[in-house]
Amino acid sequence: MAFDAIGVLGAGQMGAGIAQVAAAAGHTVYLADVGQELADKGKAGIAQRLAGAVGKGKLDRAAANAILERVHAVASISRWRDIGIAIEAVAENIELKLKLFRELDEGVPKDAVLASNTSSISITLLAAATKRPEQVIGMHFMNPVPVMQLVELIRGLQTSDATYAYVKGLAELWGKTTTLARDYPGFIVNRLLVPFLNEACDALMNGVGSVEDIDTSIKLGLNHPMGPFQLADLIGLDTVLAIARVLHDGLGDAKYRPSPLLVKYVEAGWLGRKSGRGFYSY
Ligand code: CAA
Repeated sequence: MAFDAIGVLGAGQMGAGIAQVAAAAGHTVYLADVGQELADKGKAGIAQRLAGAVGKGKLDRAAANAILERVHAVASISRWRDIGIAIEAVAENIELKLKLFRELDEGVPKDAVLASNTSSISITLLAAATKRPEQVIGMHFMNPVPVMQLVELIRGLQTSDATYAYVKGLAELWGKTTTLARDYPGFIVNRLLVPFLNEACDALMNGVGSVEDIDTSIKLGLNHPMGPFQLADLIGLDTVLAIARVLHDGLGDAKYRPSPLLVKYVEAGWLGRKSGRGFYSY
């Protein structure tokens, strides 16, 4: 069981990070995206990070090559015939995720677990779109995946004990610590984090402080590794906004309303590091 092959769907920053961690633990990994080019790009990012670790003397070259060889960038899930688990890590879009869960359910072995790295979408809803709802679970990794210790596990209403035990064991094998969250909007991490980031946007909009002064206050005043704007830029402002909307819609409380300033930045295409501009320029 421990060395089942792993399928990762979505080769962006989260998917590629998950693929890297799984391959480093010894798994064969299939990393898929829409088209070979995006899958290859995800693998190239892994290669770059591994080369960085080799350059710093934290990993030897042979080990880095072995990890990379275990990652197979593929254009579709058609080669995922021997996987024990598929982990979906695409954009936070309910319709897209539902479609992909139906495809995964048809395309991967019947006994495989289907996990979503969603940061806020209902696991119960994704599970209900499949014929194996008891084998569906949330496996929420933190960004940057290779560095962050936590994997938040989310059980949908239908998730079985066996599925939970399997993914908990897997995450621990990968050197992570897990927590268990109930399937309510934002789970644990984003229920607390996103209102904080959103409030920083409102504070900026109200002229309470500059981007730099708000970030410095939080970094040095609360000992956070990053200020809220640095962190929002790392996560991606579109993702932060998508989660804010899930909290607002799902909990129905006005206190979760997305900051108009955050909405404006996303409208402008200022999405953070990935677009070269967010609250900072990259
Ligand atoms: N991928 C892989 N490794 C990375 C990385 C990345 N994207 N970014 C940094 N690292 C590694 C570096 O290589 C370095 O490794 P070594 O110690 O082995 O040399 C280590 O992380 C530290 O990096 P740096 O020295 O460059 O920078 P730093 O000390 O400032 O740390 C940081 C960078 C780890 C990102 C740190 O600032 C941090 O912990 N920030 C907070 C991150 C956070 O809160 N993440 C959660 C976001 S919320 C989320 O993901 C959930 C959601 O649904 C929105």
